[in-house]
Amino acid sequence: MNLLLQTPLALGRRVLRRESPLAGRTVLVTGASSGIGEATAYAVAERGARVLLVARRAEEPDRVRARIGEAAWTYPCDLTDGDAVDALVKEVLAEHGAVDYLVNNAGRSIRRSLALSYDRFHDVERSMAINFLGPVRLTLGLLPAMREQRFGHVVNIVTWGVQVKAPKFSAYIASKSALDAWSRIAGRETFFENVTFTNMRFSLVQTPMTAPTEAYAGRGATAEQAAAKVVRALEDRPITVGTLAGSFGEVINVVAPRASDALLATLDRVFADSAAARDGRGSTDRAADRH
Ligand SMILES: NC(=O)c1ccc[n+]([C@@H]2O[C@H](COP(=O)([O-])OP(=O)(O)OC[C@H]3O[C@@H](n4cnc5c(N)ncnc54)[C@H](OP(=O)(O)O)[C@@H]3O)[C@@H](O)[C@H]2O)c1
Repeated sequence: MNLLLQTPLALGRRVLRRESPLAGRTVLVTGASSGIGEATAYAVAERGARVLLVARRAEEPDRVRARIGEAAWTYPCDLTDGDAVDALVKEVLAEHGAVDYLVNNAGRSIRRSLALSYDRFHDVERSMAINFLGPVRLTLGLLPAMREQRFGHVVNIVTWGVQVKAPKFSAYIASKSALDAWSRIAGRETFFENVTFTNMRFSLVQTPMTAPTEAYAGRGATAEQAAAKVVRALEDRPITVGTLAGSFGEVINVVAPRASDALLATLDRVFADSAAARDGRGSTDRAADRH
C-alpha cells in the first residue's frame, strides 16, 4: 500500500472500528523499568499488545510484568554491551518471531558545561553508548525480520534538544541527534517495505531521571501523558512528534543563527551547572544525569 496514504487510512479505520492496531502485536520497549518506558508498557498492554520489557535491572521489570499479567515478558539487558544486545535479539526472535513495534526509550541525560568536561570524555562515550550505539545495534538486529514480514515501526524517544541545541547538554543532545538522523535515513531505505520510524522530541517529562532537579519540580508532562503520545505515535506512525517550542527553536536556528546563539548563551550564564555536575558524581548517580 502507498505509505503516503497509510496514516490517514489507519486513522480512518481506527475511528470506524475503535480498535487499536497494537492489538495482538509484539511491542518491545527498552527502559521499561521506570518513567516513560514503564508507563508506555502499561499503555500498549491496555491496547492488547504483547509487551517485551527490556532494562538492566531485573526486579523492576518483574514488577511491571506482574502488573500487566500474561501478555508481558522481561529481558534484562545492558544495552551498552554489544554482545548482550546480540544475545537479546537472538532470544527475542526465537521466542516471539518478528517484533512488530520497537520503542527505543532507554537512555540517560547528562547536563554539564564544557568548562567542567575537559577531563570527562567518558561523558561523551557513555552518552553515545546508551543513546545511540545501543538502540542502533538493537534496531539493526530486529530490522531484517520486520522487512521480511513487510511491517514494522520503530519509535525513538529523543529530545526537543535536537532542535533547540541547548547549552550544557552537548554530549546528550549530540547522541540523541545521531539517533534521530540515523533513523530518518533508515526509514528512507525501508520505505517500500512498510517499515517506518518516528522520532519523538519530548520536552520535560516528570520521571526518576528529572526528579532530582529541584528547578523542574511541578513542571512538564507526567510519564502517563508522555506514554499516551508514544502510543499515538505507534498507532499513527508519524515521522516526528515534537513541541511548538522545539519547532520554534529549530526555525530560529535556521533563520537567525547568531541571535539564537546570543539568546542561548545568555540562558547558559543564567542557569549554572548543578551541584551534582560540579561534584562530578559518577555514572551511577542519577543526580549527575539531569535534563
Ligand atoms: N524525562 C524527560 O524530561 C525526558 C525528555 C526528553 C527525552 N527523554 C528520554 O526519555 C527516555 C526515558 O527517560 P525517563 O525520563 O523515563 O528516565 P528514567 O525513568 O530514568 O528511565 C530510563 C530507563 O532507561 C533504562 N536504561 C538506562 N541505561 C540502560 C542500559 N544501559 N541498558 C538498558 N536500559 C537502560 C533504565 O533502566 P535500568 O536502570 O533498569 O537499566 C530506565 O528504565 C530517555 O531516553 C530520555 O533521554 C526524557
